[in-house]
Amino acid sequence: MPVHFGQGRNGKMQTVYSTFSKLRGLLSAPDIAIDLGTANTRLYARGRGLIADEPSLVAIDRVTGEVAAVGVRAAALADEGRRRRVSPLRAGVVADLDATVSLLEPLIHRASRFGWARPRVLACIPTDAGQEEQAALEKAVRAAGASAVAIVPEPLAAAIGAGIDVASRHAHMLVDIGDGVTDIAVIRESELIATSALRTACSDLHEAVKRRVVRQSGVLLLEGEAERLTREIGTARGLNLVGDFSAQGRHRVSGRPIVVRVGRQEVATSLEPIIGRIVEAVGRAVKALPPKTASEIIESGICLTGGGARLHGMAELIETETGVTVKTAPDPMRAVINGARQMLDVAAQTDLWTN
Ligand SMILES: Nc1ncnc2c1ncn2[C@@H]1O[C@H](COP(=O)(O)OP(=O)(O)OP(=O)(O)O)[C@@H](O)[C@H]1O
Ligand SMILES: [Mg+2]
Repeated sequence: MPVHFGQGRNGKMQTVYSTFSKLRGLLSAPDIAIDLGTANTRLYARGRGLIADEPSLVAIDRVTGEVAAVGVRAAALADEGRRRRVSPLRAGVVADLDATVSLLEPLIHRASRFGWARPRVLACIPTDAGQEEQAALEKAVRAAGASAVAIVPEPLAAAIGAGIDVASRHAHMLVDIGDGVTDIAVIRESELIATSALRTACSDLHEAVKRRVVRQSGVLLLEGEAERLTREIGTARGLNLVGDFSAQGRHRVSGRPIVVRVGRQEVATSLEPIIGRIVEAVGRAVKALPPKTASEIIESGICLTGGGARLHGMAELIETETGVTVKTAPDPMRAVINGARQMLDVAAQTDLWTN
């Protein structure tokens, strides 16, 4: 419905303008924020809310080479033998450009109201990504349908999403432990004043569990089983643990299906060196800070985000090792997308976009 501002010719003009801008608003694509993660991809469309939170997976038909499905549907399809499953990202960055485009295209399309308008897309990237990796992300996002792109650092978005006052003159530390990358950043007055990233994260925990089970029992765990074991019985505080759990696998030599029993302690022991590397990196980052910043961090604490923040005992271990209070963000796996969503408002008013 047109809105009437006044009378006469001027009023008519305003009515026409208002109708036109409303129509334009209806027909144009909403701005989109994307957290393109190694394990999960999340999309937020302005005015529409969170429109995707799905595995970063593409299922490709082995015979035709066509994309059969992406996201949750790809995860469901992949075991059918006819399709192979591709992870477009590795260690937080684009590893397969075509697969990344295939993943993003339908998701971006889902956000556009009528399908033809091209949205502006704000995407997040780890702080250690090089120029080529940033260029690959930008290229993928454009090829998937973006009219303009803004790339922002992932831990800055995570901090905003975790509810940290990033504009404060007091420094804050954010540690995002994802599937492929652990990103550590110190933020003051909306700027990253120190960063370090480690391309070791949850996927390495899963690999460690798989390796141990093969060594111990000669069983290759089925897809997703090491991840499930890590999530359900994994802990960063693994001493004198009792009990064992069933997992499905195949015998390494004969290939026959097997249900294997995996001990709690066995899982904890396999996770230990990887967790050690992550915790050490956080410790190094704290130690490297100038005294004034370090004392601010001791006061404000460390905020943990990403799926790794949910690993049992992780926050406590980092706290013990660094001597700094650690808090886990309220919704750690959605902190990045929640922050990126808020950054869209800033991007809309400033010149963050490149066409
Ligand atoms: N409760 C849990 N315990 C242990 N690990 C968990 C838990 N919940 C999720 N994870 C792990 O967190 C990872 C996913 O986290 P997240 O979605 O933050 O990663 P990502 O954003 O896709 O990766 P990245 O940011 O590194 O590119 C998965 O490896 C998953 O197994
Ligand atoms: Mg992430």
